Amino acid sequence: MMRRNISISNFHIVLITQTGVIYYFMETFSKNKVYVTRKIPEPGPSILKKYFQINMNPEPDILDRDTLLENVKNVDALICMLGDKVDSNVMDAAGPNLKIISCYSVGYDHVDIYEATKRKIIVTNTPNVLANTTADLTFSLILSAARNIVNADRHVRIGNWESGWSPDLFLGYDVNGSTLGIIGLGEIGTLVAKRARGFDMQVIYYSKTRKRQMESELDITFVPLEELLRRSDFVSIHVLLNKDSFHMIDESKIKLMKKTAFIINTSRGQVINEQHLINALRNKVIAGAGLDVYESEPISSSNPLTQFAQTVLLPHIGSATFKTRSKMAEVAANNIVNFFNGRGIVHKIN
Ligand code: DGY
Repeated sequence: MMRRNISISNFHIVLITQTGVIYYFMETFSKNKVYVTRKIPEPGPSILKKYFQINMNPEPDILDRDTLLENVKNVDALICMLGDKVDSNVMDAAGPNLKIISCYSVGYDHVDIYEATKRKIIVTNTPNVLANTTADLTFSLILSAARNIVNADRHVRIGNWESGWSPDLFLGYDVNGSTLGIIGLGEIGTLVAKRARGFDMQVIYYSKTRKRQMESELDITFVPLEELLRRSDFVSIHVLLNKDSFHMIDESKIKLMKKTAFIINTSRGQVINEQHLINALRNKVIAGAGLDVYESEPISSSNPLTQFAQTVLLPHIGSATFKTRSKMAEVAANNIVNFFNGRGIVHKIN
């Protein structure tokens, strides 16, 4: 039997023996309430049900604001995700019991961190589990944009492929041997760089802090942002959204890119000034874009980006595999359990 050095209030049954105090316990914080803003996959709900009173929106769809404000009342913990604007109003509606906001995502720009920190509310995220999946998707955007995959598929499906093989049908750009410019060498950027080696790409990167060890491990070169934009055939963005990265890529930066280059974004839409990108695509300043994220999501079919043949547009599915979403649910749930438990990893961001 293991002795544990944590608060007695966490135990249901305490057994005292002659040799000391042995705690037999059911770890339960059953009085604590957790609200989950949208249905998340197993094992998230089961982990939470073991310890807490859990109330989960049974649908995967975003709640309207009033329902969100109503449903968070008196909760001790909240699991939220992209699209949920967790600001001071939500924290007020939850009330003073709210101790932890667990993001079902690695990005946390949907939470007002300043406000949470001021109220001593812990905010957590789900690092380490989605980077490979997002790096895979980044590469599929690079390949799809460069090789016209989506347009060519549509061409076949709608019955336009009438004349057989043709010397100029859907000519694209080589990915192999090209130069990849990675902006932001965090977890995802690093894994994109690893994949690029398999395509014999030359990889250059720009990051706020230079990562010398990675440079030798991955055979990549640090360059200033402007040089990266000038030299790259594919520019892939992997930075967190914050005041420094907001509209980091605007008209002046896009103008530096090659006419044959593509911009790929699987981070956050607001890193690119979308109107400037639209203008650049319209004026053929660059060859195209592969986007999983947008300034304001969801975009509608009337968004000008949808009118260009040279864009590949995805509905923010970077981490969307069965395995990864399930791991994210596990991490998001365990962040809360471990926080109340006082043991194990809590991926805090404040
Ligand atoms: C994240 O985790 O931040 C992604 O954008 C959604 O999975």
